[in-house]
Amino acid sequence: MSVIDEVKQKTDIVEVVGQYATLKKAGKNLMALCPFHSENHPSFFIYPEQQSWHCFGACNTGGDVFSFIMRKESLDFGEALRLLADRAGVILPAYSGRSEEKEEKEEFYKVNEAAALYYNNLLLKSPGAEKARHYVKKRGFTDQTVSDFQLGFSLDSWEELKNYLAGKGYSEEVMLNAGLLVQTDDGKTHDRFRGKLMFPIRDSRGRTLGFGARVLDDSLPKYVNSPQTPTFDKSSIIYGIDRAASAIRKQDMAIIMEGYMDVITAHQNGITNAVASMGTAVTESQVNALKRRSKNLVLALDADAAGEEAMLRGVDYENILNAEIRVVVMPEGKDPDDVIKEDVKSWEELVNRAVPIVDYTFDMVISRLDLTTARDKSLAVDRLLPVVAEIKDPIRKAHYMQKLAGLVKVGVNTLEAALNRLKPAPVRRKAPERKPATTPGVRSYLSSPLEEYALKLLLQYPEMKDRQEELSKEYFEISENREIFLAWQNADDISNVKETLDPALHEHYDKIINRRLPTVNNIDQRFTDSVMELRKKYLKNLAARKAESGEPGEEDIEISAQLREVYSQKNLKRREARR
Ligand code: UTP
Ligand code: MN
Repeated sequence: MSVIDEVKQKTDIVEVVGQYATLKKAGKNLMALCPFHSENHPSFFIYPEQQSWHCFGACNTGGDVFSFIMRKESLDFGEALRLLADRAGVILPAYSGRSEEKEEKEEFYKVNEAAALYYNNLLLKSPGAEKARHYVKKRGFTDQTVSDFQLGFSLDSWEELKNYLAGKGYSEEVMLNAGLLVQTDDGKTHDRFRGKLMFPIRDSRGRTLGFGARVLDDSLPKYVNSPQTPTFDKSSIIYGIDRAASAIRKQDMAIIMEGYMDVITAHQNGITNAVASMGTAVTESQVNALKRRSKNLVLALDADAAGEEAMLRGVDYENILNAEIRVVVMPEGKDPDDVIKEDVKSWEELVNRAVPIVDYTFDMVISRLDLTTARDKSLAVDRLLPVVAEIKDPIRKAHYMQKLAGLVKVGVNTLEAALNRLKPAPVRRKAPERKPATTPGVRSYLSSPLEEYALKLLLQYPEMKDRQEELSKEYFEISENREIFLAWQNADDISNVKETLDPALHEHYDKIINRRLPTVNNIDQRFTDSVMELRKKYLKNLAARKAESGEPGEEDIEISAQLREVYSQKNLKRREARR
């Protein structure tokens, strides 16, 4: 038995949840006021037989004891596992056999952490940091903020850090490769950061990945960052995520700003769901990482940045999120730092008035055109139709088609014809050929063969990536499976999935990978079947639980309608199979 299973067997979800909420009996189940959102009538249920929970209220989600703890304590899977293992008295093995790359990364985290501490101490105490302390005051940062973000100062000299870290036992090679030193042509090394205000940059687990560093005057370049290293990958880093992750979950919204200063000022003023991309356009991997915490993304970039760069991929990102992205329209020439410092209230108003990214794109394009002229109408269509074409959601797409048609005063039909010329018609999937081979597994709270089967397909066939919209993380009720599913969603390449998982999940991952699939033909069809079975399992479970919770509502109708749809798909397939 795996340690994860052992922890499950020795853990009772009723006891665990009982520590966070007052439980009342509800038949064979238990109910409580939801510990994740505030409410007056209990919509949170525990199912002891399945060792699972579900909130039918605002959360509208559920899972097992791991996902409960992850949500409640804002932990990742590995951390939740360790907490529950500790509680259950299960000893987790030290994960050995790590790759060299992993060990190198660990070294980099450690040396960066030591440097962050060192810089922070200098800022607080060193006589040489007087100017920096003055600068920090001038920017309005409190002592608490300096300590929260562990701001620091690097002395204006060539070897202070190098000597300090050498004294702590770090090799020059590690310091160099972690980006803390620079090597000159003659092979000598010296400190990279000198005379600068230091911003340690961390990941969501609080590991120190590298630094941003700002000059204390108006000289250029304004910022120097750590170079690309195995731990510092600018395209995936989200500044502030270590301090913002739980607020993003709780408020179900993330505000993406441009710079370090914006984020720090935001947090100091109670806007704790703020993070920053690294002064560059928002990347897909950042969107994916945020999506795990909330689908509600708001961009607060300066007008140009928001306009040009992020817009280009705005709709792509909406498709990834399956949700709208909104844009805070910043006053000309100001960044969030300026606005928040002037008046938090007016900042909040700006956020409340944030506009959907597609509308923002419309405004931007149109503000430069004169739509009374034929030429500019045609320009507007040239620029905006490709944007609208990208929108996957049919209702939203129709909405913007109408908006565009209205703006240039042509019929929607004309636009639709243009749209069809723009995009080749989607290829229809072939009709189903055979009866589904899968049979639903016996439900047990330890494992779910159905979930594992679907994962196996995902992990084995890269082309399944194109069909990710058909799956939802809610279909994976076992946390290990959900974790692997999320890692798969976030991975650019399926061969990287394992590496991004907590080592505690490797055994489970291997088990799934080593499952034998029957014959390997018609993978598309297999996947369709598998998704259908998963969906059915999920909906049936949901319906049964809803019924038990004794609160029939509109959603029941919704669930049964969806279930009917799944069944009619099945019947259709059977009929076709018989033919
Ligand atoms: P800004 O120039 O807007 O900086 O760049 P800022 O954070 O508002 O700084 P202040 O208010 O002038 O002190 C936004 C972000 O772009 C990145 C940094 O991450 C910065 O926070 N940047 C900017 C660089 O990496 N290098 C640069 O030279 C400039
Ligand atoms: Mn600024």
